Amino acid sequence: MSGNLESHNTPFAGGLYLITYGCQMNEYDSEKMASLLEKTYGLELVDEPEKADVVLMNTCSVREKAQEKVFSELGRWEKWKKQKSNRIIGVGGCVASQEGEVIRQRAPSVDVIFGPQTLHRLPAMIDEALRLRGDDSIKKKRAVIDISFPEIEKFDNLPEPEVNGVSAMVSVMEGCSKYCTFCVVPYTRGEEVSRPFEDVMREIRTLASQGVREVNLLGQNVNAYRGVMADGEIADLAVLMHAIRTIDGIDRIRFTTSHPNEMTQSIIDCYAEIPELVSHLHLPIQSGSDRVLALMKRNHMAIEYKSTIRKIRKLRPNLSLSGDFIIGFPGETCDDFKETLKLVEELEYDRSFSFIYSPRPGTPAASLPDEESMEKKKRRLYALQELLNKQTQAISEGMVGTVQRVLVERLSRNSFTEVAGRTENNRVVNFEGSPELIGQFVDVEILEAFANSLRGKVVATPEADRHVAPQFYAL
Ligand code: SAM
Ligand code: F3S
Repeated sequence: MSGNLESHNTPFAGGLYLITYGCQMNEYDSEKMASLLEKTYGLELVDEPEKADVVLMNTCSVREKAQEKVFSELGRWEKWKKQKSNRIIGVGGCVASQEGEVIRQRAPSVDVIFGPQTLHRLPAMIDEALRLRGDDSIKKKRAVIDISFPEIEKFDNLPEPEVNGVSAMVSVMEGCSKYCTFCVVPYTRGEEVSRPFEDVMREIRTLASQGVREVNLLGQNVNAYRGVMADGEIADLAVLMHAIRTIDGIDRIRFTTSHPNEMTQSIIDCYAEIPELVSHLHLPIQSGSDRVLALMKRNHMAIEYKSTIRKIRKLRPNLSLSGDFIIGFPGETCDDFKETLKLVEELEYDRSFSFIYSPRPGTPAASLPDEESMEKKKRRLYALQELLNKQTQAISEGMVGTVQRVLVERLSRNSFTEVAGRTENNRVVNFEGSPELIGQFVDVEILEAFANSLRGKVVATPEADRHVAPQFYAL
């Protein structure tokens, strides 16, 4: 990360209002945008547009619904902009990347349009928008637009990471080169590009020095990570995780989201070799039917996916598995859907994402004949979600009476005398405890399971002497 950020005399009196749609990658990008604009213009995040001078929307175009929200939100912001002279509207993310020109034409109040790979250029784009606004010789003002894919440049121009909790997301690769027939991501985020190994390690060391205990390595296909090392060798995700576990303070490692074909033996072996790697894996399969998987161009069969899970469960019998499912892909029959249900029953999932297929313009699947009625697709989605919810609830209930290692993250929202943390399988647990536990791993016996959280009591505090992160509880 470079520190060559220029800080400006800020033209803004209000703060920054930022809406994020979509995945964890977008959440990560939004954190970086907020930090960048704070550093350059002193813009503080605010909770409503009225308190802001800059409003930004970080968009997602993976499904149609998310895309529709963009234009309805922009309609509301148009009025807001007219109330003060130097207000700025910006649209970023995947919709901007795909529909940049359309946004410029349909929503003339938008000042800057940037893509997932150009968000680091935001300050320069905002400066340019303000300059154009002040130039009376230009009658028709047009949005400043940059939706190019300058590869890894983004990471060299973002601020040093700033910690706002004991767990941090770290983007290690961007983009996707798999071109599943239903998905826009390769077109909106570009091809897979990995950050250099040392850059990732430096970022994590900085986070650890600020009290971070858990890192979640992010990428559209994070298990396709191939980062160049100082000696020119290539590190895969397994090599990266082995290196991260040696960083003092980092005692929990997660990675999302993965592609089944990139679950190599060396990554599978990490479940035996790296105790810091959680017993949780998010591995999307989309469908249990080989016919549908082929139409989706996933390039693997259900049996190969099952074999990967079996290998990992041999090493970690308590592995909690989550996935993504698409229902009603063009040509999906009732029998295909039953294959999906069968696979879910067999593998037992612990929370998952499932959606009805949404045709995305420009993708190969959008032109496939799709004769199934929406009514039937909705019934299938309902049946799948019912099964997935049942499995999730059974896992939560099965945790009652067990002792779980919990990373204490914050004060509980329920009570002044409680704190909250997360188990390896990402359940929130509330329990009696002092704020000084924040940042520590504690052992908690689970007493009760609710729909969205667990209750427990501390049975051991192995890090009681550690005082890991006073900044998280200091007054
Ligand atoms: N890398 C991951 C993988 O191996 O599948 C997926 C990342 S993708 C951006 C996130 C999820 O969005 C997919 O797993 C898929 O379930 C969902 N998705 C993508 N395109 C979709 C579409 N056209 N309709 C419905 N869901 C979609
Ligand atoms: Fe999308 Fe398939 Fe890549 S779902 S993100 S094209 S692995």
